[in-house]
Amino acid sequence: MTFKEKFQQRIERINQALNIKYSDASSCAYQHNIHEAMRYSLLNGGKRIRPVILLEVTEILGGRTTDGLSLACALEMIHTYSLIHDDLPAMDDDDIRRGKPSNHIVYGEDMGILAGDGLLNGAYELMFNEVLMNDPTLLKVQACSTIATAAGSKGMILGQVADIKMEERSVASLDYVNKHKTGALLEAAFIAGGYLAASDEIERLSTIGQNIGKGFQIQDDVLDVIGDEETLGKPIGSDQKNNKQTYVDLLGIKGATEAYTTCYQKCIQELEQIPNSDFLIELVHYLMNRKA
Ligand code: IPE
Ligand code: IPE
Ligand code: MG
Ligand code: MG
Ligand code: MG
Repeated sequence: MTFKEKFQQRIERINQALNIKYSDASSCAYQHNIHEAMRYSLLNGGKRIRPVILLEVTEILGGRTTDGLSLACALEMIHTYSLIHDDLPAMDDDDIRRGKPSNHIVYGEDMGILAGDGLLNGAYELMFNEVLMNDPTLLKVQACSTIATAAGSKGMILGQVADIKMEERSVASLDYVNKHKTGALLEAAFIAGGYLAASDEIERLSTIGQNIGKGFQIQDDVLDVIGDEETLGKPIGSDQKNNKQTYVDLLGIKGATEAYTTCYQKCIQELEQIPNSDFLIELVHYLMNRKA
């Protein structure tokens, strides 16, 4: 199977699992309202790299992907909630996400906030149910706990706060923002997969996740300047509009491109130390060349 085929297969498995969430016909109109808004963003494309990474790491390190599917979906639900809230007028005020009008543009700000909350809480419900009902092991609990910590006020939310409040303009301060706002969930995808496989490579997985996260966000900032809005599926120029400092401001497009390439190369070096990591290495190459 080629990289593309395997990537597609994994995405389909994740999409199938996500598609049955919140799909039950409820006689309650309010429940229908919130579930429709949640599904709008959850099922509206997205690269799905976090859940794909979690499942792949679980598998190559000797775990069962059936143990990882609910956690992978939970991670994607948390990521999707973070995007809905990130686009709100009080945050980045962006009208397009994943090639369609942002959640709050379609459903209103009030419902956008609640749809994000619904997805976040749904992720925890999913993880608790997985632990309650399917082969509860301490390592599985540890994987869930890793995801929860990464999403919270010491992880992704901390990064979003720093992104808003940071005044200092330096590479070090940007690294701090990126490590948390984007690095935390990507690192959690690697580490949670490692726990599900009872791996003793958690430290290496953490290094890989942090480097992917850092590279991914620097590149996101580059694409915010030189990307094509239609391909990207979100507005370009968002960072400048919001007066956000990025690597591009400090190092220029060339310097920022070199910086993210270095991060991705570091990931590949570390991945080469892990058996059966060809798919993940190809995934890093795919990310390095992405336009969306
Ligand atoms: C966008 O994440 C937000 C960042 C962390 C930069 P992705 O680029 O993974 O967004 P989707 O899921 O593919 O839409
Ligand atoms: C936000 O970074 C990352 C999140 C935690 C959602 P950005 O604000 O740069 O993400 P995009 O460019 O809107 O996807
Ligand atoms: Mg933002
Ligand atoms: Mg944004
Ligand atoms: Mg961005």
